[in-house]
Amino acid sequence: MGRRLPRRSSCGAMSLETFSLAGKVALVTGAAVGLGRAMALGLAGAGADVAVSDVNVEGIQDTCREIERLGRRSIAVTCDNAKREAIMALFAEVDRAFGRIDILINNVGAGARYRPEELPFEDWQRVIDISLTGTFLCAVQAGKRMIAQGTGGSIINIGSTCGMSGMGRGNLPHGAAKAGVNQLTRDLAVEWGPHRIRVNSIQPAQIATDAWVNGMTSMPWDFQAFEQHLLNGIPLGRLGKDSDLVGPAIFLASDAAAFVTGHLLFVDGGNLALNAAGSITWPAPKADS
Ligand SMILES: NC(=O)c1ccc[n+]([C@@H]2O[C@H](COP(=O)([O-])OP(=O)(O)OC[C@H]3O[C@@H](n4cnc5c(N)ncnc54)[C@H](O)[C@@H]3O)[C@@H](O)[C@H]2O)c1
Repeated sequence: MGRRLPRRSSCGAMSLETFSLAGKVALVTGAAVGLGRAMALGLAGAGADVAVSDVNVEGIQDTCREIERLGRRSIAVTCDNAKREAIMALFAEVDRAFGRIDILINNVGAGARYRPEELPFEDWQRVIDISLTGTFLCAVQAGKRMIAQGTGGSIINIGSTCGMSGMGRGNLPHGAAKAGVNQLTRDLAVEWGPHRIRVNSIQPAQIATDAWVNGMTSMPWDFQAFEQHLLNGIPLGRLGKDSDLVGPAIFLASDAAAFVTGHLLFVDGGNLALNAAGSITWPAPKADS
């Protein structure tokens, strides 16, 4: 007797409803400003109740109010992701307020921009603590709860293209931490697949958040020339916007991505697809051609 083939699924039965997050509870870390705030509001817009955390107290209170204005429940919890006790307390707050968690967006990240040979050890340690260890601790706290609930879940770790290839210009600790986040993503996807907990990562590049622009304009190079250099490496021809991460985050959080796990999703305008030699390109097309 041969093995029985699995039953065929019905084709084309999927609807936009599959992207809905109604009835789900999410936690977004680092949601006071920038990408975290945009994704928290995006999840709420798709129907989720959303807890938000950050060290920026005013910022998360504002995000929390915006989520409530969208008709969803929210709490704002002050949490320094470099501190294990603070992360434990954050999840205890989520338990008290919602009694469950279905989605975690592990968004907090930090950098320390030095030449490698001048990087103070304390800065290396701080970046690893916040970006890698903090991401791991949040994932484990969420994963434990999702396993106990028995209803699966979605964990989305925010990585970076600088964890995929060398970027230079002081990105060493940031890149090393994000490369660790990528492997954390793959290993947790494998470990927790049997619990229907999907673990994926979004890899942004050159998203012009306020913090990113402030950081880049304070560096010892001409910003306009630097921006043009970046644009030469982005086939879609523009820098990213906060809102560019919202659709990918809703997709990965939702049942539309039910069979997607261990995936690193580039949201980089094609930056990583391009060989550096390709940044010398055809002249821009004429407007009337
Ligand atoms: N902007 C980009 O181009 C870009 C590119 C690649 C990856 N990323 C990643 O995306 C994520 C968000 O980036 P962003 O550009 O929105 O940054 P951002 O600086 O605008 O926001 C980061 C948020 O994290 C909070 N935060 C910082 N340290 C914290 C800590 N120890 N504990 C709790 N909260 C803390 C900040 O207060 C802030 O609200 C980060 O993980 C970053 O590495 C961003």
